[in-house]
Amino acid sequence: MKMSTEAENRDCTLNDLPGVGAATMEKLVDSGYDTVMSIAVASPGQLVDATGVGESAARKMIKFARDALEMGFEDGESLLKKRELVQKVSTGSVAFDTLMGGGFETGAITECFGEFGSGKTQVGHILAVNMIKQNPDATVVYIDTENTFRPERIVQLAEGIQLDPEETLRKIRVARAYNSDHQVLLTESVEELINKKGFDVRLVIVDSLTAHFRAEFVGRGTLAERQQKLNKHMHALLKLAGNYNICVYVTNQVSSDPAAFFGDPTKPIGGHIVAHASTFRLYLRKGKKGSRVAKLIDAPNLADGECNFMVESGGFKDL
Ligand code: GTP
Ligand code: MG
Repeated sequence: MKMSTEAENRDCTLNDLPGVGAATMEKLVDSGYDTVMSIAVASPGQLVDATGVGESAARKMIKFARDALEMGFEDGESLLKKRELVQKVSTGSVAFDTLMGGGFETGAITECFGEFGSGKTQVGHILAVNMIKQNPDATVVYIDTENTFRPERIVQLAEGIQLDPEETLRKIRVARAYNSDHQVLLTESVEELINKKGFDVRLVIVDSLTAHFRAEFVGRGTLAERQQKLNKHMHALLKLAGNYNICVYVTNQVSSDPAAFFGDPTKPIGGHIVAHASTFRLYLRKGKKGSRVAKLIDAPNLADGECNFMVESGGFKDL
């Protein structure tokens, strides 16, 4: 289901941007600014960082992109229509769903960060089966970077909500990503799955979003390069979410080694790049008596808050 926007239908390409030569173009694309829309929504500072052009040149590019897309006001009714297409994927826990305003939204990226064992991968598994329960024709894409997808866990969870386990497994397409380049490539190939192969992809999970990036780019000198690549990756995920009304769920570890990743050790990897691209951000931690605590941070229309739930063999349960 393609949700085309008016802006996308206009025939303006990056090549039409004023004063942009081949070298700048390459830097733009490498940093994830590969559509006129991505330029239109960027800030001058971001384009300066990405390309090294001066601030006034950056402002001109943004103004041109905004004019080209006739960005401005969209009437409330068409916005409401778009919102009506948004689906909410249940976690099985009433408290958790309530925290998320009814469930994990399609058309958006939800980032979940937390320490090892906090339950980020479990959330991915639970969303996969619940999405299929809610949309029997849906396909779930699971990009697995740490080899932690467990089909036998899907079987348990499917049985927990009266789904046929084998059938459920057939609707989940798992791809193991061997490095960050491979991960980016796999994300890009989701569009092919939809457009060429006709799959109704409703949920894309990237577990873990940042592990490869963290392992491959070590040390301060490589930070800019890592952030650029991550930015591009996040843009691709945003595009998937926005254009196809997909629920995108990404997991992110917190930096446990403050020396290697300067700054607050309880902060998620990827910093503001991941934070800005994510619509919903969740912090997961272990709670009392084996429970889990999910804390919602920076959600657009929801109050920040916390909830408790239990991870059980048949699914997530309220306390
Ligand atoms: P990292 O990927 O290492 O950062 O951790 P994570 O946040 O992805 O943790 P994960 O989702 O793998 O959580 C693992 C925890 O979930 C286990 O320690 C168990 O407490 C719980 N868990 C996993 N499977 C089951 C199950 O079948 N039954 C129950 N009761 N708990 C489970
Ligand atoms: Mg995990």
